Parts: sequence; structure tokens; C-alpha cells
Amino acid sequence: MKVLGIESSAHTLGVGVWDGRKIAANEKAFYKPKKGGIHPRKAADFLAENAGSVLKAALRKSGRKLGEFDAFAFTVGPGLGPCLQIGSTMARSLALRFKKPLIPVNHCIAHVEITRHLTGMREPVIAYVSGGNTQIIVREGKRYRVLGETLDMGLGNVFDVFGRELGLEWAHGSVVEQLARKGKYFGLPYTVKGMDFALTGLLTAATKALRTQRREDVCFSLQETAFAMLTEATERAVALTKKSEVVACGGVAQNRRLQGMLRTMCMERGARFAVAPDEFNADNGGMVAYAGSLFAKQRFAAGDLKVRQRYRIDEVALP
Ligand code: FE2
Repeated sequence: MKVLGIESSAHTLGVGVWDGRKIAANEKAFYKPKKGGIHPRKAADFLAENAGSVLKAALRKSGRKLGEFDAFAFTVGPGLGPCLQIGSTMARSLALRFKKPLIPVNHCIAHVEITRHLTGMREPVIAYVSGGNTQIIVREGKRYRVLGETLDMGLGNVFDVFGRELGLEWAHGSVVEQLARKGKYFGLPYTVKGMDFALTGLLTAATKALRTQRREDVCFSLQETAFAMLTEATERAVALTKKSEVVACGGVAQNRRLQGMLRTMCMERGARFAVAPDEFNADNGGMVAYAGSLFAKQRFAAGDLKVRQRYRIDEVALP
């Protein structure tokens, strides 16, 4: 089955092609705000302006024509409403024009499923870490179950806000990661409650510490504290479920220090750890195309096709 997938939940307009065996194209355009965070309306305008060229690039790369696809998949949520609408409208018009099914894909499911596919992990504990979502997830029958999650902010969002306090313009998490390599540790608030964790107190303390500490030391200590919290919660999930596989996915999963901490924890527990290539942890259309293929036989009611800004992974009925 050949599926064209469109991702537009936040700052990325991604178009990917699943050709039945592999991701044959995974093209994207990013919205980079000049100042501050993402303004949903401005981001949506950018996504709409770039949709045509990204679609063309994906078709060129895959060597496919629009008429060859068996279905069109799109990110239905969670995400920013105006941004989600762009991908939804694009997919809907393609499905109507070529008289092919339209498949709504939960963004979190897309991250998880592409990671399982690319890493070969069958039943892992999943540390899903992105801007808006930070959750510890396992599959239970026909549902994903969230065992633990952030009680306030997503981890990526913490790095974005902190990065702006540092005066960084873009790619906050990766710049914090670079600065942290030259830093030393000092104590910051550490809040794990069972398998849940809270991050805003840590963010506030790290931001205040910028007045008195070296920025490299604050970056290092922020990363160490946040990632140790996430690793502790993940370890607890591994102990509880007795699973032997762990994966990380989502934008923050690209961080090598986080990967290292999770890998060490897994080695100590005799579990395997894996992470997909960076391209598939950043938001992308390929993961939506692949996840769409898994849901292709499912029947969707009109209400299932409406974008949902808050759409949790544990609400999705799996095929
Ligand atoms: Fe994402």
C-alpha cells in the first residue's frame, strides 16, 4: 500500500511517502519565528505557503505521481489548531480529487510507530519526549497506555523557553546540548512522583540561576536534572512492566546525553535501548505516511476527520 502523509501539527510542514516497504521521501519546511515562541496563525500561514513546494519535492524524490497513492494520511492532532487545519485541508482536497481514502493520524502514534518500525523493537517501553508531549508509554492490547507523564510542561518546551532566556534564536535544545558539554553540575529542583514528573519548578530555578552561574553550567545542570527525572520514571516503568526493550522518540530524543542516560539505565537492567535516526524524531511526514498505512483498513466517521488540538495517544483505538 502506498500512502502519502502530511504533518502540520506545529512548526513543520512535512510530506512523506510510504511505498509499502520503506519511506521513499520525507521532505519538510520549518517555520522559524524571528522572535519569541510559535504564533499559531503565523506558523499556519508559513505552512500553507510552503505546502505546494514540499509536496512537489516529496513526489520528485519518491518518483511517484499523486494518482498512484492508495490513501492520503494527515496529522489530525494533537497540535496547534490553525497549523493542523493546513495539513487536514491539503489531505482532504487530495483525497477528494483522487477519490482515495483519507486517514486521520494521531501525531504521538506516528512518532511511536515509526520508531518501532525503524528500530525493530516489538513491545518497548516508550519515552516520548517532544515540545508539547512528555510521556512514558506502553502498549496494552488495542491501546497505548500512558504510565507516567509531565504534570506541567513538555520537555522540549522547557528547553525552548530556557533557550529564549539565554537569548538564543532557534534550535534551542541543540544549542543547550552544545553549551552543556562544557558545563559543570550544580543542584536544581528534581520532582518525580511515581512515574510522573514536574518540570516548571526546574525551569524557573534554571532561569534564575542564569543571573549567578555560568551559562554552560546552567545548561549542563538543567539537562542532567531533567533527563535524570525522565530516566528514573522510565526505569520505574521497565521495572513495573518487566519489558526488555526501551525506545525514545520525539524531538528531544535527538539529544545524545538523554540517549546515553537511557542506554546506561537499560544496560544495567539487561534491557535493549534504541532510537530512530534524527530525521524521524523531528516532526516529519514520513512517520504520518507509515502510521497511516497501519490504519488503512479502519473505517472513519466524519467526526474522526476533524482536527483535535488535544488528542491523547491513549484515546486511539489501535488496528
Ligand atoms: Fe512531534
